[in-house]
Amino acid sequence: MHIIISPSILAADLSNLRSELKRVPNADRIHIDVMDGRYVPNISFGLPVVQAAQRSTHLPLDIHLMIEEPQRYLGDFAAARPEVLTVHYEAVPHLQGTLRQIRDLGVKAGVSLNPHTPLDGLQYVLDDLDLILVMTVNPGFGGQSFIPAMLQKVRDCRSMIGPRQIELQVDGGVSLETLPDLAQAGATNFVAGSAVFGAENPKEYIEQMRSLAEQG
Ligand code: DX5
Ligand code: ZN
Repeated sequence: MHIIISPSILAADLSNLRSELKRVPNADRIHIDVMDGRYVPNISFGLPVVQAAQRSTHLPLDIHLMIEEPQRYLGDFAAARPEVLTVHYEAVPHLQGTLRQIRDLGVKAGVSLNPHTPLDGLQYVLDDLDLILVMTVNPGFGGQSFIPAMLQKVRDCRSMIGPRQIELQVDGGVSLETLPDLAQAGATNFVAGSAVFGAENPKEYIEQMRSLAEQG
């Protein structure tokens, strides 16, 4: 499956968002982490920053909603014309309906699982999904260490997906060091914040990520 590299602007210098985004012209999408300080312990930013990102790049947006009751805000975020909207499995009481709501807005529907959340349950909504995000850290902060036990979860997720055209995204502690094992386990979509924006040459770093991922 097609490899997707999505730098997360959580690790970018937000006072220079437009120029930060120019450092990653070869990314496939820009990953945007919305945090509400309730679903996760941290507050990042909301719709105004999403809109600013949308005005600052031609690259498609991938919005990762780490918020309670995301179903209340889907229309607002969809108005920024992202390619993907991802909600957390643990934050949504009626997942199938929420996924359908996202697709009805003309956006790809993603669902994210915290490290301890089993894959069980997703098998009944696979036809409603475009992307599964296996969190490889506990969500809420950038710059955390990758949790190695998530490699087996990625493998299990890959076999659950089977022949379906569902993207398998990983997020948290993804770098040139952790990417090869993740690619081999079956991930096709790689989010990286501190590794990319902390690199001296983010564009080159993305190129290296892509070539390792393609060997996966
Ligand atoms: C964590 C966020 C990530 C974060 C990743 O809750 O979902 O997208 O930006 O940051 P790094 O790549 O630094 O672990
Ligand atoms: Zn994220």
